[in-house]
Amino acid sequence: MPSKNIEEALLAGQASVLKPLAEASTLPPEFYTSSGIFEAEMERVMRRNWYSVGHVAEIPNPGDYFRFDLAGEPLVIVRGRDGAVRALSAVCRHRWMMVAEGAGNAGTFSCPYHKWTYALDGSLMAAPLMDKAADFDRKNCSLPNFGCEVWQGIIFVNLDGKAAPLAPQLQPLAEELAPWKMDEMEIVGRVEFDQAFNWKTLVDNFMEAYHHFAIHPETFERDYPGADTSVDTAAGAYAVLRIPHRGDELSATLFPPLDGIPDKARRGFSVFNVFPAHIFAVLADSLIYYRMELKSVEEFKLTAYLLVHPKSLDVPDAEVLKDIFRQATFAIHMEDIAACEGTQKGLRSRTAGPARLSHLEAAIHQHQIWLLDQLARG
Ligand code: FES
Ligand SMILES: [Fe+2]
Repeated sequence: MPSKNIEEALLAGQASVLKPLAEASTLPPEFYTSSGIFEAEMERVMRRNWYSVGHVAEIPNPGDYFRFDLAGEPLVIVRGRDGAVRALSAVCRHRWMMVAEGAGNAGTFSCPYHKWTYALDGSLMAAPLMDKAADFDRKNCSLPNFGCEVWQGIIFVNLDGKAAPLAPQLQPLAEELAPWKMDEMEIVGRVEFDQAFNWKTLVDNFMEAYHHFAIHPETFERDYPGADTSVDTAAGAYAVLRIPHRGDELSATLFPPLDGIPDKARRGFSVFNVFPAHIFAVLADSLIYYRMELKSVEEFKLTAYLLVHPKSLDVPDAEVLKDIFRQATFAIHMEDIAACEGTQKGLRSRTAGPARLSHLEAAIHQHQIWLLDQLARG
């Protein structure tokens, strides 16, 4: 989509979204279906902001790494010998091969094509048979090192290197979440889905509970009625959906509730979206972190990380509980997938237009206001 059309789409988006919630609609459908707008999002939003790519528990030891594509940029996220977490380019400085794939532990990254070999900090250690290349200097051939910040155990990457530090923007969240000690949590399951809809279709779905009575009548609505939910006042960098337990009762938990969390957090749960797309659900005994690896306008890989404290696992039936946790996460998400897939099909219809929002969908409104502001920065 040429930039003139992007600017026109932005004007249409602003006309729908930038009103008080009671009068507002969503972004127009093309924001969910246009490759041009997706490219603009990658360029203006995903590359410029902090984007969450994983949890530190995936790479506990020096040399542990995993690959992640962020806005089309192949990254290798690695823990160095010095213990620091880095986001390196995975693109070999010779002829662009991936220096690593998948996940694992490595002493060095040795490119499979011609065996240029990089240290864990990205510096080029060896380049076989390059001695006749005039003025070839290994020092100029390090793997680029992108901005990387670990917040509450979550690894965030900023590709353009210009984003303001993340932690100060999330200070109120950090205070609220401190009792969960997210950085000490252990991954007890990873549930993966290849999704065939726009990433915002999922964000919209996760950030409202209006649909509980219709989509999750057995799994959620009984204990967590959508009508009782609320959204915190807009906070700029993130949105928060509060989901209280029916009748203010204590939530049933798989693992023992965590020590030191406020009473309110035992009577329901909260879902957070650190914009643009870092979603996590905070429960009384655990946490679910959703990572999105965006591939195209209607395609991404979703990984749900199930996080629990090591001491919560010190129970005889821990393996059974982990299994139930995985199965329940999978089952609930399958209910949501049906809604998201149907939505995406509807978004492609010529009858579809900006949608009016209920008072329960304030987090969608907050997200889209933020997104439009980012996109308008050109
Ligand atoms: S492309 Fe990596 S060594 Fe040639
Ligand atoms: Fe849902």
